[in-house]
Amino acid sequence: MTDVLTVHGGAPLHGRVRVRGAKNLVSKAMVAAALGATPSRLFDVPRIRDVDVVRGLLELHGVRVSDGAEPGELIFDPANVERAKVDEINVHAGSSRIPVLLCGPLLHRLGHAFIPDLGGCNIGGRPIDFHLQALRDFGAIVDKTPSGLDISAPNGLHGTKLALPYPSVGATEQVLLTAVMAEGVTELRNAAVEPEIVDLICLLQKMGAVIKVHTDRVIEIEGVSRLSGYTHRPIPDRIEAASWASAALATGGDVTVTGARQVDMMTFLNVFRSVGGAFEATDAGIRFWHPGGELRAVAIETDVHPGFMTDWQQPLVVALTQARGLSIVHETVYERRFGYVEALNTMGATIQVYRECLGGTPCRWGRRNFQHSAVIAGPSKLHAADLVVPDLRAGFSHLIAALAAEGTSRVYGVNLINRGYEDFEAKLAGLGARVDG
Ligand code: EPU
Repeated sequence: MTDVLTVHGGAPLHGRVRVRGAKNLVSKAMVAAALGATPSRLFDVPRIRDVDVVRGLLELHGVRVSDGAEPGELIFDPANVERAKVDEINVHAGSSRIPVLLCGPLLHRLGHAFIPDLGGCNIGGRPIDFHLQALRDFGAIVDKTPSGLDISAPNGLHGTKLALPYPSVGATEQVLLTAVMAEGVTELRNAAVEPEIVDLICLLQKMGAVIKVHTDRVIEIEGVSRLSGYTHRPIPDRIEAASWASAALATGGDVTVTGARQVDMMTFLNVFRSVGGAFEATDAGIRFWHPGGELRAVAIETDVHPGFMTDWQQPLVVALTQARGLSIVHETVYERRFGYVEALNTMGATIQVYRECLGGTPCRWGRRNFQHSAVIAGPSKLHAADLVVPDLRAGFSHLIAALAAEGTSRVYGVNLINRGYEDFEAKLAGLGARVDG
């Protein structure tokens, strides 16, 4: 597939798209399969690059991965988990954040894990200090080498009491994937409780894990000595669903997202309605449309669950360029997630970014020189431009902006969007978008 897309904008998107298993659950579910003594079966796996990366990593470590009978079904056989060669693992360096989550399963199975330098979207520093501290708390020894992290557990892994400095999704998953087979009880405070985390807990429970979710972000895990495989259908991708919803609103269209679930998207739906979008949630999915008339400006802050997801922010901002008045977005999860607004401004949007916290949620980025708040003045007439995709979610926002703009835009680097959006070119064509690869 070519890495450039020509987008003839100005036409509303109309039709139906389907979302499958959430990228941010599926990749972790794949890792969890390595903990089982018997094979696991995962349904609704989207064809995206993050899945290919994790599949490659699992195969390198001896997990046999095969396609099941149903489209999107994967079967994992972890009978022969083995050490992989450092140079082979390093092929995956820089391409995903998931490798670090292999630590727990590999330490349990092999007593050793090697983690290459990590990639992922360039939306902030994205450190892994919480992960490494948690692994040390379980008794692991972490050695930093020039090519990555060498981690071992010569005396096994033991349950521990720990509190995360921030409710990080990845660090919570790290603790879960390690604690389920560590000896004794683990108590995790300040844990993330995103729906994808709850789904991972359900999947681990199917495998035989004992995990209690208490109030106030406390999770207690009782280690067990053996887990079996799972059969699991993941929660749908609520980030992709919200991206299509924002595309419908920004282009004045009407898109039904089959598979989207209201319960995972309640916070998004409230904002969507406040802006002036209409939706109808049924058992089959959610229909999102622009009901006509003017969109209204809103003030939002991104936050951990149950707050407004940081990944919903970028696509929605494109729709906010079409709303009357001043919208305010305070990004509290990542320090650098407004890099993409420059491109929107070249297309005619009026967006100003600020270092100050423009909102009441306590935030780690205020007074630290990070431009993490934005004010969007609208409505603005967007015009076509040549755009370069900076990261996954921002890339999809560029696409939405190009679709909403009058004229023909060229979007470079669209392959990055394949990391998280399955078949997006075909889906766009199905919605009537005029795009050429
Ligand atoms: N953080 C640290 N130290 C750590 C870990 C995290 O300081 O050791 C900080 C991060 O720098 C960030 C905050 O904690 O400021 C939250 O990061 P978190 O660990 O929650 O994010 P993540 O697990 O790396 C996942 C998703 C992201 C999503 C976030 C927040 C995956 C593969 N990625 O990242 O998704 O934005 O949670 O919900 O699950 C995406 O899909 O495009 C994407 C970036």
